[in-house]
Amino acid sequence: MSLKAVVLAAGKGTRMKSSIPKVIHSVNGKPMLVRILEILDFLKAEENILILGYKKDEILSRLEKGVSYVVQEEQLGTGHAILQAKEKLKDYTGDVLIVCGDTPLLTKETLEDFYEFYKGNSLSAAILTAHFENPFGYGRIVKEHGKVLKIVEEKEANEYTKKIKEVNTGVYIFNSQDLFKALEKIDNKNEKGEYYITDVIEILSREEKSILSYLLEDNREVLGVNSKIDLALAAKIIRERKNNKLMEDGVILIDPSTTYIEDDVKIGKDTVIYPNVFIEGNTDIGEECEILSNTRIIDSKIASNVRIEASVIEESIVENGATIGPFAHLRPKSHLKENVHIGNFVETKKSVLEKGVKAGHLTYLGDANIGEKTNIGAGTITCNYDGVNKFKTEIGKNVFIGSDTMLVAPVAVGDNSLIGAGSVITKNVPNDSLGVSRSKQIIKEGWKK
Ligand code: UD1
Ligand code: CA
Repeated sequence: MSLKAVVLAAGKGTRMKSSIPKVIHSVNGKPMLVRILEILDFLKAEENILILGYKKDEILSRLEKGVSYVVQEEQLGTGHAILQAKEKLKDYTGDVLIVCGDTPLLTKETLEDFYEFYKGNSLSAAILTAHFENPFGYGRIVKEHGKVLKIVEEKEANEYTKKIKEVNTGVYIFNSQDLFKALEKIDNKNEKGEYYITDVIEILSREEKSILSYLLEDNREVLGVNSKIDLALAAKIIRERKNNKLMEDGVILIDPSTTYIEDDVKIGKDTVIYPNVFIEGNTDIGEECEILSNTRIIDSKIASNVRIEASVIEESIVENGATIGPFAHLRPKSHLKENVHIGNFVETKKSVLEKGVKAGHLTYLGDANIGEKTNIGAGTITCNYDGVNKFKTEIGKNVFIGSDTMLVAPVAVGDNSLIGAGSVITKNVPNDSLGVSRSKQIIKEGWKK
């Protein structure tokens, strides 16, 4: 048996009230459609075909290059959407899995089980269904003696069908030939004036084809995102999954409900994450770290035993035992080696701070290399930019930079040197030297009178 998948993603998503196409709205940092494509990867279908329409270029720009798609110029309904793939699938005799781009909570396990169910029962069609206490908005599954007769959409539902709690999740597997033959027969004579994929079920059922529904235990998995309320709910569920997985693996989350960790983040055991922390992108954190409240870490590598408080860290590397914050900002390409300390209101960018460097207060270090155990006094600034170009500052080992020093790059300070507080350093300072540049202090006694 062979399988191809079709993903419906051409719709406007009117109910989202958004200028962004629905399927690229992010759920915990990842567009919904990307999530669907990721789980489809596990099924290893021969081909995944997207149906795109509304703002398709905007959608394609968010996907990997080379995805296979067809265009639905006018969005005339889910059935019409599938019909656009007919040309591509005309010689194909295998099975077709259909999923919607707006069900981001679906898991690969469910898709695999569903496909097994379809194959195991030699069906013409299988529908993935779920139970909802409040089924409003979903298509209802009408059955007789366990056999599916039809799916009735909310707008067409009468009092009796409205009470049915088993609903269509928008995920189906069809025999390809049966599907496209039936699609030729659907019309748009319904409340929405659309061609519904769901009408195919009644047609196949009348032709005595075997159709079964596969009821999913966890209905939260098939939540369809149609509004921004749904979007927030979906994100909450995905975060819960990630947080639970992390805790199972030994991470300590003080309050999971206010901890925002994206899917690809890795965290080692006994690291403690405090409330209101955001960890994003491709971030890797070691063991026994403390990440305190109001911290945001993006695409960074943090080793073990690191303590970070109320700080922002972007695309940076932090080695074992470093302490950061409160209120520090590591901008891209900051590299803090072992036991570095970065304190209050310190900003770093494209700089390497060797082992044991300390910059405790109110400092900017950009385009700088700073040697082991050097101490940077409060208010020090590497003046790396002359309005046109950026220049480097090189500071050696065991240097003491006095408070309020301006290091006007390009400039170098040698090992074991000392810079007097308040200096503006424009010339290189050799090893073992004192560099100081400040105007002489004047005292006029009795001046006040
Ligand atoms: C659909 C089902 C409903 C099911 C629900 C599950 C139909 C008629 N109804 O309703 O039974 O319970 O999903 O979430 O299928 N799309 C296109 N082209 C179009 C219209 C839609 O590609 O012309 C895409 C949308 O981008 C979306 C998906 O199809 O990804 C579903 O469309 P949507 O309008 O959200 O359908 P529902 O009303 O939720
Ligand atoms: Ca939907």
